[in-house]
Amino acid sequence: MDALVKKRMDAIASGYKYNLEEGVVDLLDLFMQSTNDPCELGGRVFAFIIAGRDTTTKIRAEAKEVIDNGGYLKYANTSKMHFTHAMWDDTSRLNTVSPAGQMEAAEDDVLPAVPELNMPPRKIKKGDIVSYQNYVLSRMPEVWGDDAGEFKPDRWFDEDGKNMPFSPFKYHSWSAGPRSCLGRPLATYEGISIAAAIIQRFDVIMSDTTKTYEPLAALNMRVKDGVKMRVRKREDI
Ligand code: HEM
Repeated sequence: MDALVKKRMDAIASGYKYNLEEGVVDLLDLFMQSTNDPCELGGRVFAFIIAGRDTTTKIRAEAKEVIDNGGYLKYANTSKMHFTHAMWDDTSRLNTVSPAGQMEAAEDDVLPAVPELNMPPRKIKKGDIVSYQNYVLSRMPEVWGDDAGEFKPDRWFDEDGKNMPFSPFKYHSWSAGPRSCLGRPLATYEGISIAAAIIQRFDVIMSDTTKTYEPLAALNMRVKDGVKMRVRKREDI
């Protein structure tokens, strides 16, 4: 990696210049727009390749198999996108657009015990407000294990490699019970089909990998100030 970075530095010193318009540009060129530190550059390229490759490669392979050449995912084929589905579920688990909510008890009731968390049954009275925090829930090791805070699509597969659903009371991004999200299948189709369509056609690179991205607390959660990306049309499809 160091040798590659040095080679590019030498090339720049001898007059090499990337050409964004004609697509003559690679990862190093993009990262070098924000730093010239060889250690930093080597680390960023390495992290990008290792972290992004697995998810991107798997989604591309799946899309190639399920989606007609040059077309878009059909609604009926959503369930065939096993890995992309897992990507969507773990994204929606960790960074749901619905980070919190609350309900008012219509009558006296008892919330059931949660033995896994040593929580006893809890009495609530008519008019009590009960709130939930999906953003926090998805990061609790008591609920999701020690890797709770990690983006890990593989957690959605069982030992035989089959998609494994979790109880909606655990994967609570869509709420649970009779008032849970009616639009979940449509939102899931949208998330999967759009992600696959973009990843199939473009290399997508985060513009600034050094920045700490923060959630913007709101009724519908998003990323504070957004996430700027660079896209490059893929030549090899
Ligand atoms: C990522 C996208 C989405 C997420 C995370 C999400 C999540 C939720 C959650 C948590 C609730 C329960 C709200 C509460 O109890 O106060 C809800 C309710 C609902 N959602 Fe979604 N939703 C999404 C997209 C959609 C879409 C695309 C539609 C419609 C096409 C939709 C239709 C509804 C409806 C109608 C309800 C009310 C159900 C009821 O009260 O009986 N949602 N959603």
